Amino acid sequence: MTTRSCLSIILAAGEGTRMKSSHAKVLHRIGGLPMVAHVARAAEAAGAGDISLVVGHAGDEVRKAAEGFAPKAEIFVQSERLGTAHAVLAARQAISRGYDDILVMFGDTPLVEADSLAAARTRLAEGAAVVVIGFRPPNPTGYGRLIEKDGRLVAIREDKDCTEEERKIDFCNAGLMAIAGKEALKLLDQVGNSNAKGEFYLTDIVEIADKAGLAVVATEASFESVLGINNRAELAEAEAIWQNRRRRRAMLEGATLIAPETVYFSHDTEIGTDVLVEPNVWFGPGVKVAGGAVIHAYCHFESASIGPNAEVGPFARLRPGADLRENSKVGNFCEVKKAVVEKGAKVNHLTYIGDARVGAGANIGAGTITCNYDGYSKFFTDIGEGAFIGSNTSLVAPIAIGARSYIASGSVITEEVPEDALAFGRARQKTMPGKGKELRERFAEAAKAKKKSAAE
Ligand code: UD1
Ligand code: CA
Repeated sequence: MTTRSCLSIILAAGEGTRMKSSHAKVLHRIGGLPMVAHVARAAEAAGAGDISLVVGHAGDEVRKAAEGFAPKAEIFVQSERLGTAHAVLAARQAISRGYDDILVMFGDTPLVEADSLAAARTRLAEGAAVVVIGFRPPNPTGYGRLIEKDGRLVAIREDKDCTEEERKIDFCNAGLMAIAGKEALKLLDQVGNSNAKGEFYLTDIVEIADKAGLAVVATEASFESVLGINNRAELAEAEAIWQNRRRRRAMLEGATLIAPETVYFSHDTEIGTDVLVEPNVWFGPGVKVAGGAVIHAYCHFESASIGPNAEVGPFARLRPGADLRENSKVGNFCEVKKAVVEKGAKVNHLTYIGDARVGAGANIGAGTITCNYDGYSKFFTDIGEGAFIGSNTSLVAPIAIGARSYIASGSVITEEVPEDALAFGRARQKTMPGKGKELRERFAEAAKAKKKSAAE
């Protein structure tokens, strides 16, 4: 990567009315991450050391969110929405600090790839003053057209300002631009607003630069990668494209996805090599899967860690703080929350483990429940290593179950169980020989008598 300094200016002042949302458009998520954060990441990956975020008058929500995804970003407010050039100039203070390269990006174009941005920067390094990232949409209506003459890019004409002839051009402006820092303010300050919309168009700097004898060039990006999001249908389209990219990456990095189109990732999912993922699995944010793990079908994960060679599902739910260590197993219809399942421990069927430690090699029988909540507070259950918890046991927290102890099935355990102990927490069984038969005869008699009296 070049040593040239780079500022990325991300425009996010749009109102996004077509999202029909009380939240800022650019904060709607893809892969669990706000669109504008995807844009900031691409900028960073392309070498932008500084980021300026231009927000509108209702920008507080974006400002707050930016503290999370781009804490070093400078926020500028464009209080009146007078056009894209006007928006870029909201960051005048940052531009005038002096950068080699300036990348202008839109906060609602989340699939932009760092490679396209880096390619544009390369053209600046080669001497261009303005680099426009173009694309060829299936339908160019609505986009600015790239007007080329003698192999030069001489202007971008907005759809509304095009002649019939110009409207036929299919090479369009994606909205992303790289500008030589030393020319940027000079060019931007010359932009006027005598056009169909009466806005200050960023696109006008192409003609201004060309007329001043500066080099202006266009590069090309794929339609998918510059998709702008205006409504929730487009948001879902972008999500689908993002998921496909992410699935492909997981597979190329060594995970097997049997039906990739049914597996959903988050922006921060980490997957090791030789992980097998069966169909229909949801990775919410904050999930790590170590090498060799097997994820059976229909699982739902969120902020959880799955250790080496662990096995999960089918139909398992791992909630925040679930920490499955190496070779452990969490099976069908089990829920684990804020709990460590240590090496080789098994939680195989119909169980809830919350606020707990399951010691190494412990075996948790079907239907075991950690009763961790009294309606006000949460309490901890500690299960020692090698313990055997019989099926249908309730462990009433706070409680400690000693290592290698044995809990009888159907127990309600309310008192600490020491190591190597056997604990029963249920009524003793009473068996009365012949009593069953006697009972049946009595019931049959009664039913017969009732029928007879009804007939009379
Ligand atoms: C813009 C381009 C057009 C290109 C298209 C690609 C201009 C003049 N036109 O048109 O050539 O084909 O994008 O999608 O640049 N914004 C602000 N403040 C403003 C105006 C806009 O922050 O005052 C932001 C918007 O939130 C949006 C972006 O800039 O993220 C683009 O603005 P928009 O009005 O949607 O431009 P288009 O008409 O789509
Ligand atoms: Ca737009």
